[in-house]
Amino acid sequence: MRLTVVRGRVELAERAAERVAALLGACPESVLALPTGRTPIGMYRRLVALNRLGRVDLSRATLFNLDEYAGVPADHRGSFRAYMRRLLWAPCHLDPARTHVPRGDAADLAAECARYEAAIRACGGIDLAVLGIGANGHIGFNEPGSRFDSRTRVVDLDDSTRRANGRLFEGGLAPARALTMGIGTIIESRSILLLAAGADKAAAVRAALRGPLTEAVPASALQRHPDVEVLLDPAAASRVERDA
Ligand code: GLP
Repeated sequence: MRLTVVRGRVELAERAAERVAALLGACPESVLALPTGRTPIGMYRRLVALNRLGRVDLSRATLFNLDEYAGVPADHRGSFRAYMRRLLWAPCHLDPARTHVPRGDAADLAAECARYEAAIRACGGIDLAVLGIGANGHIGFNEPGSRFDSRTRVVDLDDSTRRANGRLFEGGLAPARALTMGIGTIIESRSILLLAAGADKAAAVRAALRGPLTEAVPASALQRHPDVEVLLDPAAASRVERDA
Protein backbone atom coordinates (compact mmCIF):
# COMPACT_ATOMS: atom_id res chain seq x y z
CA MET A 1 0.00 0.00 0.00
CA ARG A 2 1.46 3.37 -1.01
CA LEU A 3 0.35 6.21 1.21
CA THR A 4 0.73 9.88 0.29
CA VAL A 5 -0.38 12.77 2.46
CA VAL A 6 -1.01 15.76 0.21
CA ARG A 7 -1.20 19.41 1.26
CA GLY A 8 -4.93 19.73 0.79
CA ARG A 9 -7.95 19.10 -1.40
CA VAL A 10 -6.50 20.86 -4.45
CA GLU A 11 -3.45 18.61 -4.52
CA LEU A 12 -5.63 15.57 -3.80
CA ALA A 13 -7.73 16.39 -6.86
CA GLU A 14 -4.67 17.03 -9.03
CA ARG A 15 -2.90 13.84 -8.04
CA ALA A 16 -6.00 11.70 -8.44
CA ALA A 17 -6.74 13.16 -11.87
CA GLU A 18 -3.12 12.69 -12.90
CA ARG A 19 -3.26 9.02 -11.87
CA VAL A 20 -6.32 8.50 -14.06
CA ALA A 21 -4.77 10.51 -16.90
CA ALA A 22 -1.56 8.47 -16.72
CA LEU A 23 -3.48 5.21 -16.94
CA LEU A 24 -5.52 6.43 -19.90
CA GLY A 25 -2.39 7.80 -21.55
CA ALA A 26 -0.81 4.35 -21.37
CA CYS A 27 -4.01 2.45 -22.14
CA PRO A 28 -6.89 4.58 -23.46
CA GLU A 29 -9.30 1.64 -23.38
CA SER A 30 -8.98 1.09 -19.64
CA VAL A 31 -11.96 0.11 -17.52
CA LEU A 32 -12.48 2.34 -14.47
CA ALA A 33 -14.67 2.07 -11.41
CA LEU A 34 -15.62 5.53 -10.16
CA PRO A 35 -16.98 6.98 -6.91
CA THR A 36 -19.39 9.74 -6.08
CA GLY A 37 -19.57 11.97 -2.99
CA ARG A 38 -17.87 15.25 -2.20
CA THR A 39 -14.31 13.90 -2.09
CA PRO A 40 -13.86 13.17 -5.83
CA ILE A 41 -15.54 16.34 -7.13
CA GLY A 42 -12.17 18.10 -7.51
CA MET A 43 -10.75 15.11 -9.37
CA TYR A 44 -13.60 15.23 -11.88
CA ARG A 45 -13.21 19.00 -12.34
CA ARG A 46 -9.51 18.51 -12.98
CA LEU A 47 -10.15 15.65 -15.41
CA VAL A 48 -12.56 17.84 -17.35
CA ALA A 49 -9.92 20.60 -17.47
CA LEU A 50 -7.26 18.14 -18.67
CA ASN A 51 -9.70 16.83 -21.25
CA ARG A 52 -10.31 20.36 -22.59
CA LEU A 53 -6.54 20.86 -22.85
CA GLY A 54 -6.27 17.63 -24.83
CA ARG A 55 -4.16 16.07 -22.08
CA VAL A 56 -6.50 13.19 -21.30
CA ASP A 57 -8.76 11.26 -23.62
CA LEU A 58 -11.66 9.58 -21.86
CA SER A 59 -13.53 8.72 -25.04
CA ARG A 60 -12.29 5.15 -25.30
CA ALA A 61 -12.40 4.30 -21.60
CA THR A 62 -15.26 2.31 -20.07
CA LEU A 63 -16.60 3.72 -16.81
CA PHE A 64 -18.54 1.84 -14.16
CA ASN A 65 -19.83 3.67 -11.12
CA LEU A 66 -19.62 1.91 -7.79
CA ASP A 67 -23.19 2.36 -6.72
CA GLU A 68 -26.60 4.02 -7.02
CA TYR A 69 -29.63 4.57 -4.81
CA ALA A 70 -32.53 2.14 -5.16
CA GLY A 71 -35.86 3.55 -6.26
CA VAL A 72 -34.49 6.90 -7.38
CA PRO A 73 -35.31 7.97 -10.96
CA ALA A 74 -32.23 8.46 -13.15
CA ASP A 75 -33.03 12.16 -13.58
CA HIS A 76 -33.43 12.87 -9.83
CA ARG A 77 -30.83 15.46 -8.85
CA GLY A 78 -29.64 13.22 -5.99
CA SER A 79 -29.02 10.19 -8.21
CA PHE A 80 -25.42 9.21 -8.86
CA ARG A 81 -26.24 9.03 -12.56
CA ALA A 82 -27.17 12.74 -12.47
CA TYR A 83 -23.96 13.49 -10.52
CA MET A 84 -21.80 11.74 -13.12
CA ARG A 85 -23.63 13.33 -16.03
CA ARG A 86 -23.11 16.77 -14.51
CA LEU A 87 -19.50 16.39 -13.42
CA LEU A 88 -17.91 14.21 -16.08
CA TRP A 89 -19.97 12.65 -18.84
CA ALA A 90 -21.59 15.80 -20.26
CA PRO A 91 -18.54 18.10 -20.02
CA CYS A 92 -16.37 15.42 -21.69
CA HIS A 93 -19.09 14.44 -24.23
CA LEU A 94 -18.76 10.77 -23.34
CA ASP A 95 -20.53 8.04 -25.28
CA PRO A 96 -23.42 6.77 -23.10
CA ALA A 97 -22.58 3.23 -24.22
CA ARG A 98 -19.32 3.48 -22.26
CA THR A 99 -20.71 4.97 -19.06
CA HIS A 100 -22.42 2.69 -16.57
CA VAL A 101 -24.28 3.20 -13.32
CA PRO A 102 -26.51 0.53 -11.80
CA ARG A 103 -30.15 1.31 -12.63
CA GLY A 104 -31.71 2.20 -9.31
CA ASP A 105 -35.12 2.44 -10.95
CA ALA A 106 -34.99 -1.06 -12.51
CA ALA A 107 -38.14 -3.13 -11.95
CA ASP A 108 -36.07 -6.13 -10.84
CA LEU A 109 -33.14 -4.87 -8.76
CA ALA A 110 -31.56 -8.30 -8.22
CA ALA A 111 -31.53 -8.90 -11.99
CA GLU A 112 -30.03 -5.44 -12.48
CA CYS A 113 -27.20 -6.29 -10.05
CA ALA A 114 -26.48 -9.54 -11.91
CA ARG A 115 -26.52 -7.65 -15.23
CA TYR A 116 -24.08 -5.05 -13.86
CA GLU A 117 -21.70 -7.69 -12.57
CA ALA A 118 -21.82 -9.48 -15.95
CA ALA A 119 -21.19 -6.20 -17.81
CA ILE A 120 -18.02 -5.61 -15.76
CA ARG A 121 -16.86 -9.15 -16.49
CA ALA A 122 -17.65 -8.76 -20.20
CA CYS A 123 -15.30 -5.75 -20.30
CA GLY A 124 -12.49 -7.85 -18.86
CA GLY A 125 -12.75 -6.54 -15.29
CA ILE A 126 -11.72 -3.24 -13.76
CA ASP A 127 -8.25 -1.83 -14.34
CA LEU A 128 -8.44 0.96 -11.76
CA ALA A 129 -11.04 1.47 -9.03
CA VAL A 130 -11.09 4.96 -7.58
CA LEU A 131 -12.71 4.88 -4.13
CA GLY A 132 -13.83 7.24 -1.42
CA ILE A 133 -14.52 6.06 2.10
CA GLY A 134 -17.50 6.56 4.37
CA ALA A 135 -17.05 7.78 7.95
CA ASN A 136 -18.05 4.25 9.02
CA GLY A 137 -15.41 2.67 6.77
CA HIS A 138 -17.69 1.80 3.86
CA ILE A 139 -16.49 1.57 0.26
CA GLY A 140 -19.07 1.94 -2.48
CA PHE A 141 -22.16 1.31 -0.39
CA ASN A 142 -20.71 -1.75 1.33
CA GLU A 143 -21.65 -0.99 4.90
CA PRO A 144 -19.96 -2.56 7.96
CA GLY A 145 -20.72 -6.29 8.05
CA SER A 146 -20.53 -6.68 4.26
CA ARG A 147 -18.76 -9.86 3.27
CA PHE A 148 -15.34 -9.47 1.67
CA ASP A 149 -16.48 -11.80 -1.13
CA SER A 150 -19.73 -9.88 -1.77
CA ARG A 151 -20.75 -9.09 -5.34
CA THR A 152 -22.97 -6.37 -6.82
CA ARG A 153 -26.21 -6.46 -4.84
CA VAL A 154 -28.97 -4.52 -3.12
CA VAL A 155 -28.05 -3.28 0.35
CA ASP A 156 -29.69 -1.45 3.25
CA LEU A 157 -27.93 1.79 4.14
CA ASP A 158 -27.00 2.73 7.69
CA ASP A 159 -28.86 5.72 9.11
CA SER A 160 -25.55 7.59 9.44
CA THR A 161 -24.89 7.05 5.72
CA ARG A 162 -28.39 8.22 4.80
CA ARG A 163 -27.88 11.40 6.82
CA ALA A 164 -24.34 12.04 5.51
CA ASN A 165 -25.60 11.73 1.91
CA GLY A 166 -28.99 13.32 2.41
CA ARG A 167 -28.31 16.84 1.17
CA LEU A 168 -30.12 16.47 -2.15
CA PHE A 169 -33.06 14.50 -0.77
CA GLU A 170 -36.28 15.55 0.88
CA GLY A 171 -35.93 15.72 4.65
CA GLY A 172 -32.14 15.51 4.34
CA LEU A 173 -32.26 11.72 4.28
CA ALA A 174 -30.96 9.62 1.37
CA PRO A 175 -32.94 6.53 0.30
CA ALA A 176 -32.86 3.46 2.56
CA ARG A 177 -31.48 1.08 -0.04
CA ALA A 178 -28.86 1.09 -2.76
CA LEU A 179 -27.23 -1.08 -5.41
CA THR A 180 -23.49 -1.41 -4.95
CA MET A 181 -20.56 -3.28 -6.41
CA GLY A 182 -19.53 -5.82 -3.78
CA ILE A 183 -16.26 -5.79 -1.92
CA GLY A 184 -15.28 -8.89 -3.90
CA THR A 185 -16.06 -7.04 -7.13
CA ILE A 186 -14.02 -4.03 -6.06
CA ILE A 187 -10.94 -5.86 -4.81
CA GLU A 188 -10.67 -7.85 -8.04
CA SER A 189 -9.74 -4.54 -9.71
CA ARG A 190 -6.15 -4.61 -10.89
CA SER A 191 -5.32 -1.32 -9.13
CA ILE A 192 -7.04 0.75 -6.48
CA LEU A 193 -6.81 4.46 -5.65
CA LEU A 194 -8.39 5.42 -2.32
CA LEU A 195 -9.11 9.09 -1.64
CA ALA A 196 -10.03 10.62 1.71
CA ALA A 197 -10.24 14.18 2.94
CA GLY A 198 -11.46 15.75 6.17
CA ALA A 199 -11.25 15.05 9.88
CA ASP A 200 -14.52 13.10 9.82
CA LYS A 201 -12.69 10.38 7.85
CA ALA A 202 -9.64 10.11 10.14
CA ALA A 203 -10.93 7.25 12.30
CA ALA A 204 -12.20 5.25 9.31
CA VAL A 205 -8.90 5.73 7.47
CA ARG A 206 -6.93 4.56 10.47
CA ALA A 207 -9.14 1.50 10.96
CA ALA A 208 -8.98 0.69 7.25
CA LEU A 209 -5.21 1.02 6.86
CA ARG A 210 -3.82 0.10 10.28
CA GLY A 211 -6.56 -1.88 11.99
CA PRO A 212 -7.28 -5.59 11.73
CA LEU A 213 -8.72 -7.04 8.55
CA THR A 214 -12.38 -7.21 9.52
CA GLU A 215 -15.76 -7.13 7.83
CA ALA A 216 -16.72 -4.56 10.50
CA VAL A 217 -14.51 -2.13 8.53
CA PRO A 218 -15.24 -2.77 4.84
CA ALA A 219 -12.26 -0.71 3.62
CA SER A 220 -9.85 -2.91 5.61
CA ALA A 221 -10.34 -5.45 2.76
CA LEU A 222 -7.96 -3.22 0.77
CA GLN A 223 -5.07 -4.40 2.96
CA ARG A 224 -5.27 -7.68 1.05
CA HIS A 225 -4.81 -6.03 -2.32
CA PRO A 226 -1.32 -5.90 -3.88
CA ASP A 227 -1.71 -2.54 -5.67
CA VAL A 228 -3.36 0.15 -3.57
CA GLU A 229 -2.45 3.83 -3.60
CA VAL A 230 -3.92 6.03 -0.88
CA LEU A 231 -4.13 9.82 -1.12
CA LEU A 232 -5.06 11.64 2.08
CA ASP A 233 -5.33 15.26 3.08
CA PRO A 234 -3.66 16.07 6.43
CA ALA A 235 -6.93 15.92 8.38
CA ALA A 236 -7.87 12.48 7.06
CA ALA A 237 -4.30 11.29 7.71
CA SER A 238 -4.07 12.70 11.23
CA ARG A 239 -4.69 9.47 13.11
CA VAL A 240 -2.70 7.27 10.76
CA GLU A 241 0.42 9.36 11.09
CA ARG A 242 0.24 9.55 14.85
CA ASP A 243 -0.04 5.78 15.14
CA ALA A 244 2.34 4.77 12.37
C1 GLP B 1 -21.14 7.60 -0.45
C2 GLP B 1 -20.63 6.80 -1.63
C3 GLP B 1 -19.21 6.35 -1.41
C4 GLP B 1 -18.38 7.54 -0.95
C5 GLP B 1 -18.90 8.05 0.35
C6 GLP B 1 -18.11 9.21 0.93
O1 GLP B 1 -21.56 6.80 0.57
N1 GLP B 1 -21.44 5.65 -1.91
O2 GLP B 1 -18.70 5.79 -2.61
O3 GLP B 1 -17.03 7.14 -0.82
O4 GLP B 1 -20.22 8.49 0.11
O5 GLP B 1 -18.62 10.42 0.45
P1 GLP B 1 -17.94 11.82 0.63
O6 GLP B 1 -16.80 11.85 -0.31
O7 GLP B 1 -19.02 12.79 0.26
O8 GLP B 1 -17.53 11.93 2.04
